[in-house]
Amino acid sequence: MQAPTEHPRDDLPLLEGARVRLRGFREDDLGDFYAVHSDPVVNRYWSFPAWTDPSQARDYFASAIGGRDADRMLCWAIADLDNDRLIGATTLFAINRPQGRAEVGYALSASHWGRGLAQEALRLVLGHAFDALELRRIEADIDPRNAGSCRLIERMGFVREGLLRERWCVAGEVSDSAIYGLLATDWRAKNL
Ligand SMILES: CC(C)(COP(=O)(O)OP(=O)(O)OC[C@H]1O[C@@H](n2cnc3c(N)ncnc32)[C@H](O)[C@@H]1OP(=O)(O)O)[C@@H](O)C(=O)NCCC(=O)NCCS
Repeated sequence: MQAPTEHPRDDLPLLEGARVRLRGFREDDLGDFYAVHSDPVVNRYWSFPAWTDPSQARDYFASAIGGRDADRMLCWAIADLDNDRLIGATTLFAINRPQGRAEVGYALSASHWGRGLAQEALRLVLGHAFDALELRRIEADIDPRNAGSCRLIERMGFVREGLLRERWCVAGEVSDSAIYGLLATDWRAKNL
C-alpha cells in the first residue's frame, strides 16, 4: 500500500521554533520515522512495541494523515530546522472541542535527546492547542517509570493528577499510567 502523498490542509499548521519545524509527514520521511520507532530504547514505554517491519511506519503514516482533523487528531513530524529531516513526531489526539481538551504524545530519535528539542516542540504544540484551538486542558498519559518524559512534562508545567493502575499491556508487560494535566490558565500564567 502506498502512503498518501502529503496534502497540506488548514487543520495542520506549520509551526516553527528556533531549532525545530513541526510539519506534516512526507513520503521521504518514512525511513527516518521507521528508524525512530524501530529503536527499542525509544519504544521502551510506548503504547506499542518497537517496529520490526518498515510497512508499520507506512501504515502509521496512512492513519496519521487520513485521520487528521482539528476535531479529532493532529499529528506533526518534528523536523530539524537546518535540513528539514524528520527527527521525531508529536500528536494531539482525543481532541474534544466541545469539552475543550485533548491528549498529547511525543517521541524523538534517541540521538536527539538531551538538547531541549522536545521542550521546544511541545511548547509549539501547546501554544497551538491553547491559542488557536482554544482548548482548556491538555492531558498526558505517561508510564511512571519513564523518567525523561515525566521530567519533560513537569518542566512544561503539567501537574501529576493521579495514577491509573495496570492501564496498559504492551508485548505482555502490564504497566500503570501517571496522568498529567495542564490547564490553559496554568500555561498563560507561566508563558506571559
Ligand atoms: C521524552 C523525550 C521526548 C524527552 O526528550 P529529551 O531530549 O530528554 O527532552 P528535552 O527536550 O526536555 O531535553 C532534555 C534535556 O535537554 C537539556 N536542555 C533543555 N533545553 C536545552 C537547550 N536549549 N539547549 C541544550 N540543552 C537543553 C535539559 O537540561 C534537559 O536535561 P535534563 O532533563 O537532564 O534537565 C525522549 O526521551 C523520548 O523521545 N523518549 C521516547 C519516547 C517516549 O517515551 N515518549 C513519551 C511517551 S509518554
